[in-house]
Amino acid sequence: MSTIESVLVENRVFPPSEAMQKAARIGGMDAYNALCKEAEDDFQGFWARHARENLVWDKPFTQVLDESNKPFYKWFADGQLNASANCLDKHVGTPVENKTAIIFEADDGTVTKVTYRELLDRVSQFANALKAHGVKKGDRVLVYMPMTVEGVIAMQACARIGATHSVVFGGFSAKALQERIIDGGAVAVITANYQLRGGKELPLKAIVDEALAMGGCESIKNIFVFERTSTACAMVAGRDKTFTEVLKGQSTDCPPEVVDAEHPLFVLYTSGSTGKPKGVQHATGGYLLWAKMTMDWTFDLRAGDIFWCTADIGWITGHTYVAYGPLAAGATQIIFEGVPTYPNAGRFWQMIEKHRCTIFYTAPTAIRSLIKASETDEKVHPKNWDLTSLRILGSVGEPINPEAWMWYYRNVGGERCPVVDTFWQTETGGHMITPLPGATPLVPGSCTLPLPGIMAGIVDEAGNELPNGAGGILVVKKPWPSMIRTIWGDPERFKKSYFPDELKGYYLAGDGAVRDAQNGYFRITGRIDDVLNVSGHRMGTMEIESALVAKTDLVAEAAVVGRPDDVTGEAICAFVVLKRSLPHGDEAKAIAKELRDWVAKEIGPIAKPKDIRFGENLPKTRSGKIMRRLLRSLAKGEQITQDTSTLENPAILTQLDQTY
Ligand code: PRX
Repeated sequence: MSTIESVLVENRVFPPSEAMQKAARIGGMDAYNALCKEAEDDFQGFWARHARENLVWDKPFTQVLDESNKPFYKWFADGQLNASANCLDKHVGTPVENKTAIIFEADDGTVTKVTYRELLDRVSQFANALKAHGVKKGDRVLVYMPMTVEGVIAMQACARIGATHSVVFGGFSAKALQERIIDGGAVAVITANYQLRGGKELPLKAIVDEALAMGGCESIKNIFVFERTSTACAMVAGRDKTFTEVLKGQSTDCPPEVVDAEHPLFVLYTSGSTGKPKGVQHATGGYLLWAKMTMDWTFDLRAGDIFWCTADIGWITGHTYVAYGPLAAGATQIIFEGVPTYPNAGRFWQMIEKHRCTIFYTAPTAIRSLIKASETDEKVHPKNWDLTSLRILGSVGEPINPEAWMWYYRNVGGERCPVVDTFWQTETGGHMITPLPGATPLVPGSCTLPLPGIMAGIVDEAGNELPNGAGGILVVKKPWPSMIRTIWGDPERFKKSYFPDELKGYYLAGDGAVRDAQNGYFRITGRIDDVLNVSGHRMGTMEIESALVAKTDLVAEAAVVGRPDDVTGEAICAFVVLKRSLPHGDEAKAIAKELRDWVAKEIGPIAKPKDIRFGENLPKTRSGKIMRRLLRSLAKGEQITQDTSTLENPAILTQLDQTY
């Protein structure tokens, strides 16, 4: 583990407006501090109070935190509830019942609205269809769906019957899908014939077929296919059924299956520092509690808000702030099927205007690419749309650089809307360190302070707390309800990855961070392991290396590092030794393309290396260790100032200079 030093030079501070402070749930720093103090003074009482106030329990809990088998913490363990009932049924008989739950805008701009009542009926009906096909409590169901109302219905229906969903992002390959089906032992797949993105019809079901044809997926008994478009797709008799078929005759009444608070609500795979993605397992009660509370706290949700989180349901952000949080909080939300650049890069702004969006939550990569687009084409600049409906902006997934923050604040938020830079992870279930719109003075590029109840800290490699101003390792010193419970099927890896012995039982986030010397604000300095963040997507360098060397006819060895990129945050740079002679010119370009296409097939297009460099070997020490630090310098195009005398073959550096 290495730590990263501070380079912060940011003096601008934006306090909340008086009006926002007055109206907010947590209005002002005194209110924030009071909540933090409540959590400090009576940790369990704090969480118990919120769990009672925010969730509907079928059987009330009497235990709060069970620490008897650390780090396998349990929360509200003797309580029982159902997540779907807490998102839908609980609104029946309240003004929310007939409120719009989802404003769905399709890729082509078609808008459909669904009320909470209708959503409950549709989730129940699909839940009944799942049950009719033998899917039951405790089963795993793989969801490979486009961003649609049906995607949310699939997840909610699983939750309703107590099945554990495992959503795989629609951009992942057949191979990635097959690995996740096998690892989770899924009994069914919920997918669509096609997905529509940027005016293109892209296959989904065909990729599921390909995954199953790879073998090892015998646990799958049923494939449910949502007919997103009218184009036919291949169907296997007996195994594959369309939504229309399975929904026929199913009742819209499906009593929710009551589960224990610790029942696994979902498993979501994410990249780690080995080649194999980790199945992050979340529990029902604690996860849902934090999804609901952070909607109220971080976004200060109001009855009239139109909330829009642009994340895909295939990522944790789409789980917590599309499929669960907004519904548990009774919000009206926008779900968008398409991409921000189609039909042009003004799509987000146009949609905010059209739907009178009030809270907009997106990723720095999207902001940076839209800044770039508006610099070359005035017509897609946000100033061309009426964005006055907005009151809060959010950022998630990667550090937001101060320039992008300022642009977002000025041009999208009209210098009126606080920007909440939310730091969190797949493993944390919900926000961890974030400003509160009615309380926290904002500093561009800083995620500011931990939410009340989240005991974040910065330590050295022995777990000792560091003073403000010193960069170190980000940890969470106490468990919290929405934390990862285990890695599916690999409790040892869970312990080793997140609770290493040397860190005093603290949760290791995997990021470096520094607290501001004056105000104690946190700033995330980036991953301290072999995980890259490309466009806000987590990618393991080892995962990409394994994919490259799996091309056994061509690749002898590969090393992958990240380098900074203006738009995507980090870019993937692969150093490759081929089994043939060193290629040059067009031949090298052709091989680089072949390798990119290969990685897209092995993992998905998001893992394609941006840069590929070929060498006859890789820079290694005499003891055979790849010199990754040197590769990182090469990838950045830096002058090599490091000592290369220990390098086995210094001449290699000139070969590796050429990017394809
Ligand atoms: O490195 C941090 C970065 O994204 C990682 C988590 O990635 P993932 O599990 O895919 O979840 C992304 C969506 C929550 C973190 O370890 N990260 C996330 N949010 C921020 C961030 N880095 C800096 N600032 C953030 N706001």
